[in-house]
Amino acid sequence: MTLLHLAGVTRTVQLIDAPPLTILSGVDLDVAVGDRVSIVGRSGSGKSTLLNLLGLLDNPTTGDLEFDGRPVKSFSSAERDRVRGRDVGFIFQQFNLLQGRTALENVMTPLLYAQGKQFWQRARIATEMLDRVGLGHRLGAMPDKLSGGEQQRVAIARSLVRGPRLILADEPTGALDLETGADVMALLDEVATGSGAALITITHDPAIAALATRHLRLDHGVLTVVGAPDDSALLGGDVPDDLRDDDLAAVPA
Ligand SMILES: Nc1ncnc2c1ncn2[C@@H]1O[C@H](COP(=O)(O)OP(=O)(O)OP(=O)(O)O)[C@@H](O)[C@H]1O
Ligand SMILES: [Mg+2]
Repeated sequence: MTLLHLAGVTRTVQLIDAPPLTILSGVDLDVAVGDRVSIVGRSGSGKSTLLNLLGLLDNPTTGDLEFDGRPVKSFSSAERDRVRGRDVGFIFQQFNLLQGRTALENVMTPLLYAQGKQFWQRARIATEMLDRVGLGHRLGAMPDKLSGGEQQRVAIARSLVRGPRLILADEPTGALDLETGADVMALLDEVATGSGAALITITHDPAIAALATRHLRLDHGVLTVVGAPDDSALLGGDVPDDLRDDDLAAVPA
């Protein structure tokens, strides 16, 4: 079942004292339930901009974007907020944690907008999710007292706590060491598998990209398919040759 459908999507921003800037052009993409997609590309190529469109945070300037078979253009703003809150788990590049709120309060926040059991049992559900990211002992910690990697894991717990159908992860392991990064990706995959969600990951890490089953790349706002990995890559072996390019090699470890 198709969750996301994009056809000819562009995103242009108006600048002061300069011609409009085209960030995305002619983006075609279909994402089905259960898909594992990775997106690579240089800094400034439009990756976060694309993720914001996929997560219903921004609108395309032109082109068609359908979520769950419905044109996003037809959503009222209240409906967009509702669909985004219920169906989309966003792991932001900058974490976007609420400062002055504990780790537990941050992870509970999405559940305040949920119904029934998810709402009434929000403290228990959020506690369990923090436990799963290895932060069960830091429930009462404020974000500014947590390390970068710990903040990232709070952000990950928050994104997963409502069981989204679409998980959008913007460099989800960027602040994590190799081992914690691998654990977090395994958790993302497990949660996605459990709820039949699609997982779209922006990453500079070829090993993380190799965990996906479809590999995409953005160059100056143009999205292309990188090529399917071979079986050894799926089993955690070598990274597909297509991913060994200058951009990836140029990124500091
Ligand atoms: N609202 C905006 N106004 C002006 N320029 C913008 C806006 N949003 C994004 N841009 C520009 O569009 C380009 C793409 O930005 P984007 O954040 O999508 O890049 P990215 O691929 O995520 O980069 P990085 O890997 O550094 O996170 C950048 O040059 C950025 O400066
Ligand atoms: Mg970005």
